[in-house]
Amino acid sequence: MARRPVIIDTDCGIDDAQAIMMALAAPDIRVLGVTCVFGNTSVENVCQNVLRVLDVCERQEIPVFRGSGGPLVGARVATTDHFGTDGLGDVFKDRDPLWEQKVQKEHAVSALIRLATENQQQARPPCVSLVALGPLTNLALAVRLDPGFPQKLKDLFIMGGNMEGKGNVTLCAEFNFVMDAESAYVVLEDFLCRTYLATWEFACRNALTWDFFNELVSQNAPAAVFMRTVTSRCRAYSQEASRSQRDVHFGPGFVSYDAYAMAACIDGGVVTGSIECPVRVELQGAMTRGMVALDRSGELKKSHSVVVLTGCDAEKLRRLLVDAVRQPRR
Ligand code: BDR
Ligand code: CA
Repeated sequence: MARRPVIIDTDCGIDDAQAIMMALAAPDIRVLGVTCVFGNTSVENVCQNVLRVLDVCERQEIPVFRGSGGPLVGARVATTDHFGTDGLGDVFKDRDPLWEQKVQKEHAVSALIRLATENQQQARPPCVSLVALGPLTNLALAVRLDPGFPQKLKDLFIMGGNMEGKGNVTLCAEFNFVMDAESAYVVLEDFLCRTYLATWEFACRNALTWDFFNELVSQNAPAAVFMRTVTSRCRAYSQEASRSQRDVHFGPGFVSYDAYAMAACIDGGVVTGSIECPVRVELQGAMTRGMVALDRSGELKKSHSVVVLTGCDAEKLRRLLVDAVRQPRR
């Protein structure tokens, strides 16, 4: 069976690592490359985190590209909370002195365009899926450099934004979108390929249990040990946060945000419900900057819609997460 080509754009924190491992473990997925963007940490740390994940999974042949170090407008806001300052829980003391040599010379934005173009020349209709797990800066730059870029993709899966006006960073906005609201706006306006949005509320409403998580990371496979290690310092914080802040709306639970977008890409059967409608990212509001507005009455007169995920098959998601930490050797 021919494997489906996928590009992953990531700000590699802990949940990104989990999502990347999911893709690496999926038998019918071929990861063409991983493009890095700032977000959970600096883009330099993101590159190193991705290289680390590929090492653990023995997939060093997959090219890693450095991308945008900050948003289109304004300076990068440094974040230090749940994933630590380095994005992987601040548990590793060692640094690979050769990491820069292991990152491709080509910029992430040009790699996105090249990989999609090459694959489109070989296959019609286009067959490359793009999974975006961080701020959308690389994607926005790609569509500005090559307006035909979205048409070279089969589809786009985004973790980010919201569908009920609830935010995790500001009152109304989700992290990936608020970190670069202009890019989120550009992508949701200009990407005319089929686009799936796994929002913050969608992930929270489909939380798994902490018992499941504890079992997941108690295995001895290298990927499980890695997940256990990177969550060792922040697990208590995450569990407490899920009890206090998040459960105002959703109740406590284990939520691997980026895994939801990746799972939808790997197995469409994970999605059990969705709303298809035009959307727009708010850029102006003092309280709502970065928020996604769902246009269910056609007010915006937009010609294209986005698939906003609402329902998730928890059993299928759990199975993908389990497969991810078992990582078959290739
Ligand atoms: C998103 O923000 C990041 O911290 C996570 O990696 C995820 O992509 C959740 O809001
Ligand atoms: Ca992420």
